[in-house]
Amino acid sequence: MNDVTLTINGKPVSGVTEPRVTLLDFLRDVAGLKGTHAGCEHGVCGACTVLIDGTAVRSCLMLAVQAEGEDIITIEGIGGSGARAGELGVIQDAFCETHGLQCGYCTPGMILAAEALLSVNTDPTEHEVREAISGNICRCTGYVQIVDAILLAAKRLGQRNDAAPSDANLVWGLNS
Ligand code: FES
Ligand code: FES
Repeated sequence: MNDVTLTINGKPVSGVTEPRVTLLDFLRDVAGLKGTHAGCEHGVCGACTVLIDGTAVRSCLMLAVQAEGEDIITIEGIGGSGARAGELGVIQDAFCETHGLQCGYCTPGMILAAEALLSVNTDPTEHEVREAISGNICRCTGYVQIVDAILLAAKRLGQRNDAAPSDANLVWGLNS
């Protein structure tokens, strides 16, 4: 048995586990985070995707002991925090609004793949979005609404710090 300590969604998590246990099983069974889904369990479907230092990784292909000391984000770490704890994040909201999910089994992995893309590319093309989720299988949606969701999220995230419209100075009384 091995001691494993990880940072998951910003909090340290420790557990004792056998060397053969995957990161996927550690997250689900030791950390109790069931949002990371087990699909194929051999690296094909992407349902088990998590972020390690911002990179999308298949947690079924990594042993928990290999992840010792790593900084991991799971779907449980993607929503609002602080005063907004419990609220959906921008990408999650976009998936809801565009009907980017049906059964939802692939959704955590899709959202984390989207998060990995949008953290390095704030204005992706449709082709880039399709490429970013090309390792994630969805049996329900046909992918169109998922791509729409990620493009919508990109638009919203990109607008977050947009310059105010030119007449905003009037609103703030700066031109008076
Ligand atoms: S469960 Fe990991 S890729 Fe399918
Ligand atoms: S929504 Fe069912 S597998 Fe994608």
